[in-house]
Amino acid sequence: MASSRAWHNAVLLTAVVLLLRRSCCIDASSAATSPVATVTARPNPPSTTNQTRAPALFVFGDSIVDSGNNNVIETLIRCNFPPYGQDFPGHSATGRFSNGKVPGDILASRMGIKEYVPPYLGTNLSDFDLLTGVSFASGASGFDPLTAKIMLVLTMDDQLELFKEYKMKLEHIAGAERAAEIVSTSMYLIITGTDDLANTYFTTPFRRNYDLESYIEFVVQCASEFFKKLHGLGARRMNIAGAPPIGCVPSQRTNAGGLERECVALYNQAAVVYNAALEKEIKRLNGSDDMPGSVLKYIDLYTPLLDMIQRPQAYGFDVTNRGCCGTGVFEVTLTCNQYTAHACKDPNKFLFWDTYHLTERGYNLLLTQIINRDGLH
Ligand SMILES: *[C@@H]1O[C@H](CO)[C@@H](O)[C@H](O)[C@H]1NC(C)=O
Ligand SMILES: *[C@@H]1O[C@H](CO)[C@@H](O)[C@H](O)[C@H]1NC(C)=O
Ligand SMILES: *[C@@H]1O[C@H](CO)[C@@H](O)[C@H](O)[C@H]1NC(C)=O
Repeated sequence: MASSRAWHNAVLLTAVVLLLRRSCCIDASSAATSPVATVTARPNPPSTTNQTRAPALFVFGDSIVDSGNNNVIETLIRCNFPPYGQDFPGHSATGRFSNGKVPGDILASRMGIKEYVPPYLGTNLSDFDLLTGVSFASGASGFDPLTAKIMLVLTMDDQLELFKEYKMKLEHIAGAERAAEIVSTSMYLIITGTDDLANTYFTTPFRRNYDLESYIEFVVQCASEFFKKLHGLGARRMNIAGAPPIGCVPSQRTNAGGLERECVALYNQAAVVYNAALEKEIKRLNGSDDMPGSVLKYIDLYTPLLDMIQRPQAYGFDVTNRGCCGTGVFEVTLTCNQYTAHACKDPNKFLFWDTYHLTERGYNLLLTQIINRDGLH
């Protein structure tokens, strides 16, 4: 427990020092100094002219859906080393914060689009990759721009800037008309917000001028602005996730759950209040004059995930209060590495891979429940 705090404080301190050194914000132009995707030709990309089937999946958000963007930006929040990726093809540590696939991959695969959603940054994207969608997500990001800035990762606005750049590439390969059609008929998956509450509000001192209620209001306002900007860039079908039961995530149990590592009631309550406010705003924006033609969907992560945590056996898990990596009580990102931490014997028996992120099997079961209950669109 002490070492977790010490580690966390060290990361935070480093981040703050870097933040001060770099003055204010990372903007898209600093992100763009990284090796930016180059287009490589690929014959016969799939040409879907059907309005009902999404031709592509675009992903925005944080480490739940980052597929490797953080590998090429200047941040400590990364995981492109073993044991991350141990169950990915080739045991490849791609920068996905899990042992295998992350939700964007799983969703794209279930929609019959493709098996993996590549990161926009740092890879040589083929025409096929561009035509079928990429992830702009960045681990440790949040709707509150400060959340990303503290950890030197891409803000949601940075992600939108990259999306603009992406659209130009898409026009280049598909033509303006087809590109606009892909953008407007594709599915958008947006998963972030956890780090705003868990990190920025509850852990760092930077938002102490807000009480919880007003901070939640602020975050939902930022979220709302993001959806409107994304709509302005042509997106219509947005699936937006709420917060998980943050207090039951292993790292938060360790940090604030006492000796017994209980779920932290306050953090869960915060997630519930945030989710209600987010869902309300999503319903208000859905198809409104602010966002004509939009279809927004709120995804409840909280209920299915809490059920998985509370009833491990029902899902074939042995352990849901610790991560699979190392001791499972503090290892996450930098501290979950091959020199200090081995993965558990069977990740399929664990809901959590590290103290923050699910195993591939955990994500798979979570998505199954979400799709079975509400569907996505
Ligand atoms: C969409 O798919 C359906 C079923 O395959 C087909 O009947 C329809 O013609 C398609 N629409 C377009 C615009 O291609
Ligand atoms: C992308 O292609 C360039 C030029 O072919 C090459 O130098 C670079 O290493 C490639 N990057 C990746 C991530 O494969
Ligand atoms: C959004 O509007 C569509 C109709 O356009 C409706 O089917 C759907 O239930 C609405 N979603 C939410 C979250 O209110």
